[in-house]
Amino acid sequence: MTTAGLSQPPPSTAEASAQQPRRPGQHLAEGTVIEASGLASGYGSGTIWSGADFSVDAGEFLTVLGPNGAGKSTLLRMVLGLLAPAGGTLRVFGAPPERGNPGIGYVPQRRALDPDLSISAEDIVGLGVDGHRWGVRLSRRAGRQRQQAGRLSGGEQQRLQLAQALVTHPRLLLLDEPLASLDLRSQQEVSQLVADLRAEEDFAVVLVTHDINPLLPVTDRVMYIAGGSVSVGTPDEVITSENLSRLYQAEVEVITDSRGRVFVVGLEAEAAHPHSPATVPGAQS
Ligand SMILES: Nc1ncnc2c1ncn2[C@@H]1O[C@H](COP(=O)(O)OP(=O)(O)OP(=O)(O)O)[C@@H](O)[C@H]1O
Ligand SMILES: [Mg+2]
Repeated sequence: MTTAGLSQPPPSTAEASAQQPRRPGQHLAEGTVIEASGLASGYGSGTIWSGADFSVDAGEFLTVLGPNGAGKSTLLRMVLGLLAPAGGTLRVFGAPPERGNPGIGYVPQRRALDPDLSISAEDIVGLGVDGHRWGVRLSRRAGRQRQQAGRLSGGEQQRLQLAQALVTHPRLLLLDEPLASLDLRSQQEVSQLVADLRAEEDFAVVLVTHDINPLLPVTDRVMYIAGGSVSVGTPDEVITSENLSRLYQAEVEVITDSRGRVFVVGLEAEAAHPHSPATVPGAQS
């Protein structure tokens, strides 16, 4: 597995990247954060997927797609050292995965916070971090009650959890469906926020989603987990009507509008149906 297709030369200084918006495929950090070879996942004797060969570059933005139950969260659990590979090898920062790795920030797949959760938003973000940066209004005005985290909106909660995951300045950020249940505008805002923070801090992102559209402007590559196999390619290589329809075994259409923006139509309805193996031409698997 290679990272071909990502190899635009990086800007020469960190300053240069801070001044210019970063394009997909362009990142400063060097090296590899995740390397998988012949990797298989499973719980007990059952295999979820196998034969995965891929790597994630330092600073890269990888979006992970796939139907429910395909094994997307399982991949993140393996990177976090919470689940051992069922086969093959997996290396994170050049070493076997370990639990509690401070180099990894993680926002798990989740439901909304309990509205009665008594912890404050400020406490969740952590000492010394200003929630304003993430677009969460954490007022400390005298006489105003601290904002109860569970009473923030869905979009604000996502930003809050993002802020929490970034407190330790990780080199790798794992986000499991951070756009779920957000409206279109919040999806775009959270996607752009992740992209902006990555441009500032140069961490790699592995983001699981069912909706690729808000990520298309910012993602370097796309990983598909479906039918027991894992494929990776650049958006241009794999986001075509033909490929996606084959992968999902459903009518999926890729449309380019008059401004050159690409949209994927039909994946939302498909997400609930695991299906038989499929491969994506042009993708590395
Ligand atoms: N602890 C577990 N023990 C046994 N099987 C599990 C366990 N956790 C998950 N599974 C199974 O592994 C498969 C993959 O689960 P996973 O959570 O990785 O799917 P996913 O792709 O993240 O799906 P979704 O889109 O619904 O979040 C599913 O069939 C699931 O039932
Ligand atoms: Mg999941």
